[in-house]
Amino acid sequence: MVRWIAGMLVGLALVAAGPDARARELSLGLITPPGHVWSQAARAFADRLARETDGRLRVAVTDSGARGNEAALLRQLEDGELDLALITVGELSRQAPALAALLAPRLAPDIESAKRILEGPTAAGLLRDMARHTPLVGLCYGMGGMRQMVLSGDGTLSEVLDEGKVRVTPVPAIADFYRTLGAEPVAVPLPAVDRALEQGEIDAVDMDLEMILALRLANSHGRVLITRHMMFPMVAVVSRQTWATLSAADRDRVRRILCDELGKLRLAYLNRERQWLEILQGMGARVEVVAPADLAEAARAWRLAHPNLIPVIERLSRDAGR
Ligand code: BEZ
Repeated sequence: MVRWIAGMLVGLALVAAGPDARARELSLGLITPPGHVWSQAARAFADRLARETDGRLRVAVTDSGARGNEAALLRQLEDGELDLALITVGELSRQAPALAALLAPRLAPDIESAKRILEGPTAAGLLRDMARHTPLVGLCYGMGGMRQMVLSGDGTLSEVLDEGKVRVTPVPAIADFYRTLGAEPVAVPLPAVDRALEQGEIDAVDMDLEMILALRLANSHGRVLITRHMMFPMVAVVSRQTWATLSAADRDRVRRILCDELGKLRLAYLNRERQWLEILQGMGARVEVVAPADLAEAARAWRLAHPNLIPVIERLSRDAGR
């Protein structure tokens, strides 16, 4: 009886204190700069969640890699220091290797196919499977633009890449692709790429058009090659620890709002890819389109080096309607 009365008193005190008594701030980390579409989607999610819960659930977004690189974000999610993150599939594939199938070169020949694949049943299955390998709940996919290349100097693609150094995101699947082309992949963080190119420490860069523009790589250093050689998916993840502390209704809210924002992001890329290309051309950048056949041999070699991924790659291709 005494315990029952004490419980009632605590309950009444909470009601009297108003909804803020149960207010909670979740942390979300990502590595892109504030103007990048991923950072904008993260902030839109934070705003909507706060609005829909009258400020009871707030999200503190830390972008620009201010919490460290993606490997550091994953560690923080595991240690309970971070609640949510937008993380590239490449980084996640270190722990959940089947996700690397999404990085198979020329799996998606264009951004429309990339979107279809990420919204298809095989990609959804890979996300569910990720839970067996990581302490994370994968909510849904976002994506970046198709990967392209920036080449310094005037040599042909094979001349520059043969024994040349290429900046890559530090992910085995991406590094392997450049090795098949005879190049040496070098991990250079985004803010250091411009300087590395300028100082001749690297001969080429693997990147998407949005980031090529943001880092102003096209003006100063050689040519942009439109290769569309790889898609670049991202996943919204929540630490399982955090997920367990949210009510079922709040889990639904977080999933619905975040995945809605990432759905808008995937849709936006269809137009943005074309617009970024037009901006580059309008700036007078040297833009060259590489024929798919020029990279077909490297794409085949990549698959031969990853035989365990081939059944998944075939299912993903069917989801793209190929
Ligand atoms: C990159 O490493 O090129 C990259 C990482 C995250 C978002 C966009 C680009």
